[in-house]
Amino acid sequence: MLRAMFIGLSTSKSLRAFAEKSPMGRAMSQRFVAGETVASGVRVTKELNARGIAVTIDNLGENVTNLDEAKQSACLYHQMIDEIVKGGLNCNVSLKLTHMGMDVDEMLARELVSGLVDHAARVDSFVRVDMEGSPYTQKTLDLVHDLHGRPGHQGRVGTVIQAYLFRSEKDVAELLAKGIRIRLCKGAYKEPPEIAFKDKADVDKNYVKLAQTLLKSGIYHGIATHDERIIEAVKAFAIRDKIDRDSFEFQMLYGIRRDLQEKLVKDGWRMRVYVPFGTEWYPYFMRRLAERPANALFLAKNLLRK
Ligand code: FDA
Repeated sequence: MLRAMFIGLSTSKSLRAFAEKSPMGRAMSQRFVAGETVASGVRVTKELNARGIAVTIDNLGENVTNLDEAKQSACLYHQMIDEIVKGGLNCNVSLKLTHMGMDVDEMLARELVSGLVDHAARVDSFVRVDMEGSPYTQKTLDLVHDLHGRPGHQGRVGTVIQAYLFRSEKDVAELLAKGIRIRLCKGAYKEPPEIAFKDKADVDKNYVKLAQTLLKSGIYHGIATHDERIIEAVKAFAIRDKIDRDSFEFQMLYGIRRDLQEKLVKDGWRMRVYVPFGTEWYPYFMRRLAERPANALFLAKNLLRK
């Protein structure tokens, strides 16, 4: 119930406008967000790299409503790719299509993302297109298939598959057939029962099944979860089937299960952390509370203690 409440609140425009301006909201968001500027993202990336952890950096924002905002977001991503090269960072970028203007002008969004994949390809980097709610699933997959097929883009663009969707097994097969890199996650949006598993046990079962398919594919994928039972199952499978540890990576979100991130690195597994930065942190932050409502209490207590 609390999950549904936080996901519901994540789309509230009035609460978002209030929270993003309030000093208390900004202080709380810092638990999961590197800061508001490119420089803060770069600083956190350097800290993580120094601990043997790769990064994917995300400029927070989604569902932009005008073309200037979309172009500005793309500019910021170009700036970030330049910073990655300048700083020699072990880092790539993740973006959301609705941040690139998908709701306003699909052609423009496609060209903005294509420009970023061009840039990433020139500097030997990679662009991950995050997966949003189900109204965007097919559009995201179509765009990624299209971009990956363009000259010079092979291996430079990938996407995300959500284990809670019934369709994911088929989507995985189609992406693998083209050699497209996948980040596998459980899924963070509210989806109707006609298209998504409702029980955690079913989502977890599908996750493990899809993860095994990815590991066997010979393509470099990301296993994105904080779920220790799933991580143990993936590790056991990799060891049993003699899958090279360097042929895939675990991924987690900034600020979540730092102990587990460190342990995986110490044990010789590849680890990448998703580092968001920017002023538009509200929907991202609310989805993190939805995943673990106890976070809200924990953050409030910490804030009162300060
Ligand atoms: P689950 O929710 O079952 O949690 C397992 C355990 O992890 C919990 O018991 C708790 O210990 C810990 N945990 C999980 N979330 C926590 C939180 N917020 N705070 C504290 N502890 C927490 N989703 C999506 O729809 N599209 C996308 O593109 C992405 N991208 C993405 C990238 C990366 C790198 C990650 C790790 C995740 C995503 N996600 C995502 C989010 C994903 O779908 C999912 O909502 C979260 O990862 C939580 O699911 P878990 O797999 O961690 O399991």
